[in-house]
Formats: sequence, structure tokens, C-alpha cells
Amino acid sequence: MDQLISILQSISWWVWILIFLLIVALRDIFFQRSHTISHNFPVVGHLRYWLESIGPEMRQYFVANNREELPFNRIERGWIYASAKKENNYEGFGTDRDIYAHQHIFVKNQMMAYKVPDTHINATDKTFLPCAKVMGAYNGRRKPFRPGSIINVSAMSFGSLSAAAVEAMNKGVAKAGAYHNTGEGGLSNYHKQGGDVIFHFGTGYFGVRTPDGNFSMEKMKKLVDENPTIKAIEIKLSQGAKPGKGGVLPGAKITPELAEIRGVEVGKDVISPATHKAFNTVPELLEFIESIANETGLPVGIKGAIGKLEQWEELADLMEKTGKGPDFITVDGGEGGTGAAPPSFADHVSLPWVYGFSSLYKVFLKRKLTERIVFIGSGKLGFPAKAAMAFAMGVDCINVAREAMMSIGCIQAQVCHTNRCPAGVATQNKWLQKGIDIPLKSDRLAQYFMTFRKEFLEITHASGYEHPCQYTMDDIQLNVDDDDLNRSLASSYGYNKAKVPFESMQNLYDCIHLGGKHCENSKE
Ligand SMILES: Cc1cc2nc3c(=O)[nH]c(=O)nc-3n(C[C@H](O)[C@H](O)[C@H](O)COP(=O)(O)O)c2cc1C
Repeated sequence: MDQLISILQSISWWVWILIFLLIVALRDIFFQRSHTISHNFPVVGHLRYWLESIGPEMRQYFVANNREELPFNRIERGWIYASAKKENNYEGFGTDRDIYAHQHIFVKNQMMAYKVPDTHINATDKTFLPCAKVMGAYNGRRKPFRPGSIINVSAMSFGSLSAAAVEAMNKGVAKAGAYHNTGEGGLSNYHKQGGDVIFHFGTGYFGVRTPDGNFSMEKMKKLVDENPTIKAIEIKLSQGAKPGKGGVLPGAKITPELAEIRGVEVGKDVISPATHKAFNTVPELLEFIESIANETGLPVGIKGAIGKLEQWEELADLMEKTGKGPDFITVDGGEGGTGAAPPSFADHVSLPWVYGFSSLYKVFLKRKLTERIVFIGSGKLGFPAKAAMAFAMGVDCINVAREAMMSIGCIQAQVCHTNRCPAGVATQNKWLQKGIDIPLKSDRLAQYFMTFRKEFLEITHASGYEHPCQYTMDDIQLNVDDDDLNRSLASSYGYNKAKVPFESMQNLYDCIHLGGKHCENSKE
């Protein structure tokens, strides 16, 4: 034995390297059949796979220019990171955008900006920017809700996001006075950190399902009764990244904790069908909305990505005829994010936000129904100028998913579907999520929201308005093409939004239905 050890010790390091390379070469040639390149070019063939695997990072760090990457380019990500950290988020020397490029938007400023009076709420709180409409007011729901912030966290479930990320987001919205949409995975303890919640469910009815996978009104009522932070309920019809696509949650991923929250069995595959079991037709959907609203007293809305309009027209006709309807409609763009989706769906199914929203809004505008509905937009709208465009087109609130993820540390690694998110945001890996400092990240989410609202208000004031709900389609210009050069949104999309009833910011502040951190001010 001693002799063998001394022979091995006498072999120099470079001989060891040669032996190792020889073993790799033998394996490449004789023992593996799955990679042709490593068989045909033993040892060096591995370089190709390695370089390919680090290509995205290399391009992101060194090659891509500041405005090049998708879904979010470096300038956009940098703005969110700096805003979330309360760092300098300005840019020097002037814009680096090609402002003559197709689809570039311009917000029209007024000759003299809106002057904030000394006694105005925004003179002391520069981030106070609640929704101008009240969810459930028109339909006379027992518990109407005015979102305390026009920017909120979009549907993302515990399951697609880590426990630490969900907890940081809920604590963040509590600090920023915004709401947190649960996503399809049910209401977890991580969603119960004090922030307002919109409970969202899809075809899997997670958290409110019967053992055979149907919707349970009894569980819905119990959930709402036990959790007063739930302010509204959202029924998911579809989302932009994968409309009409069902899914399977593999049994291996279903831990006892996840099983309890979702109301499913540990270790057993769960199927989310492509369609709902609780309703099949538009009139049945309307009845379903009404029954949930009646049983819980909460505003009830629907979320959808837009493609064909016939069933939306049918819904609008029914709303006109019956006087009933959803209290809010969330319109997701085809550019919307997801934890996992087939590229054919994510790239091609459903319209981009501007086309989808404008088509849908017109359906309700034509019938004078827009006042009854709080319109929420999602699809890369978490930037003040983009939000101004969305408000001009008719939204009352925006939801952000990936922007919220970035504010708590997501680096756009685009590996949410692999469980290997390096930032611990979209993974169930315990080690990776340990990196999230929950109090710090919740501050960052809150700071991003507050910076967003402050800058959005500043743009609004520059346009001569007190609240962004006052934007019209004539206030935003869009570069179209070489013949027309530049047009207003109104002429590009063929409508102007209905005027949103708005008296003053003080009026919103005094509203007894105002949510978020300002609700302690409410005079019930
Ligand atoms: C990780 C992740 C999980 C999501 N989960 C849901 C979901 O459960 N239900 C849903 O309707 N949308 C879901 N979405 C879509 C978002 O709620 C949102 O509509 C979309 O990403 C557009 O917003 P964004 O551009 O700000 O990301 C998810 C998105 C992401 C990134």
C-alpha cells in the first residue's frame, strides 16, 4: 500500500491532467451516444457546450447594448433596481433612445404644469396616489374597495415564487399601501403579512376546491371570513403568456405545506384543466361572479388576455341588460410573464397589451359601461411613462409581476421554469431562497412602488393634471410610420376614453373604502 501511494505521489501534476483528459476522451468516444459533437471531437467538443451554456450571461454582461434585451433591457432593469434602493435613478446627458423610432410614445406636457397647493395631500406625501374608482361601488357590493395605490403586485403564486419572495412582497405592499394578488396557488401564510390581498383563482380552484377539483363556495366564504385582508376576488380566465393552456403540477413538487395551501393531496399529480368547471357559458360566468359577490360581499373581477372579442361583446350585452357584471377587469398583454409556458404560447397566442386593451375597452365604451368597471392593466407597464399611456387608454390601476420580482432581486436569468432561480425569487430551493433578506427586500419593493408613484405624479403634473385618471388619448402621441409620422393615441386606436369621475385627491383620501396603509385614516 505504502509503495502504491509513493508511486502515485511521484506522478507529476501534468501527467494527472493527461490521464483525466484521456478518461474523458475514452468516455466521449466509447461510452456516450447522446452528444455527436463530443463523440466526433472528444474533449474539445465539451467547450462548445460550456460556452453555449454561459452565452446568455456573457451577452447580458458584456455584449448586449443598454436598450437591446428582452423582456426588460438593462436601462429598464437599472431604473427598477435604483428606484427600489432609493439610489440615483436619473440619466445624464440626455436620452439614449431613438425618439423617432416606430411606437415611441410621447406624453404631452402643458404650457404651465399643475401647481400642487401647499395644503394638498401631495404637498406632504408625494407618493399618495390611490385608484380613482372604487371596486364594487356600482354593483353595491357589501365591502367595496378603493385600492390605496395605482401600482400593485400582479398574480404570482406561492409555488411559482419562493416563500421568501411572497413574504417580502406582502410586507412590501403593506408598507407601500398597495395590494398583493395571490396568483393561482391559494392563500399561504406568506401572503398574510399585513398587505391588502386580491385572492385569485384559476381552473385548479387552489385553496377553494372540493376534493374532486370543483369550486367550493363554502371554502371561499370561510377563507374570506377568516382573512379580512382579502379585499377582492379575481377569477382567472386566461393570462397573456399562455391563454387557454392548462397545466400539471407534478406530485413530486407537492410538499405537505403546498398541499395544505392548495387543498390537494401530497405527492399526487394535480391537473389544472384548460377550462373552468364552474361555468361553461358567458351567462353562467356572470351568475358565478354574482354568486361569489353575494356570498362574500367582496368585489369580484375577471382576468383575461385578449384575442377574439365575441364573448366579451356577449358579456357587455348581458351587463347592459341585467345591470350586473364584474367589478373589475384585468387585461393582461401577450407580452406578459409566467413561471413556465411553451414558447409557441408565450410568443404568439393573444394580443400585445395595447392592441388587446384598446379593443376590449371599446366594447364597454360603446355600451357606456366603463364607469361600472375598474380596469387594471398588466404587461410591462411598471414604468411611469408607459403607465401614463395605459391610463390615457382607460386603465385605473396597473399590476406588475416581473418588475416586482426585480425590485426584490430578480436578475432576469429567465430560469423560473427550472427551479434554479439564482436570486431565490422563483424557486422552491431552500438554499437559494435563504439569500433573500425579507425585511430589506420588502423595503425595496415598497420603495420601487413609492418612487414609481412619485415620478408618475410628476409626469401627471407636467401634463397639467392632478391625478393620472385625467389623462385622455389626445395627451399621448405615438410614432407610427413614415407617412403619418406621429399621431395621438385617439387617432391611432379610434376612441377616446370615457371621463373618469374625479373631484380631488383629498376626496380620495377621505374615502371610507380606501385600502392600504391609509385605511386607518378612514372615517367608517
Ligand atoms: C413567476 C410568474 C408567475 C405568474 N403566475 C400567474 C398566475 O398564477 N396567474 C395569472 O393570472 N398570472 C400569472 N402571472 C402573470 C402576471 O400576473 C402578469 O399578468 C404578467 O406577468 C404581466 O405583468 P408583468 O409584465 O409586469 O410581468 C405570472 C407571472 C410570473 C412572472
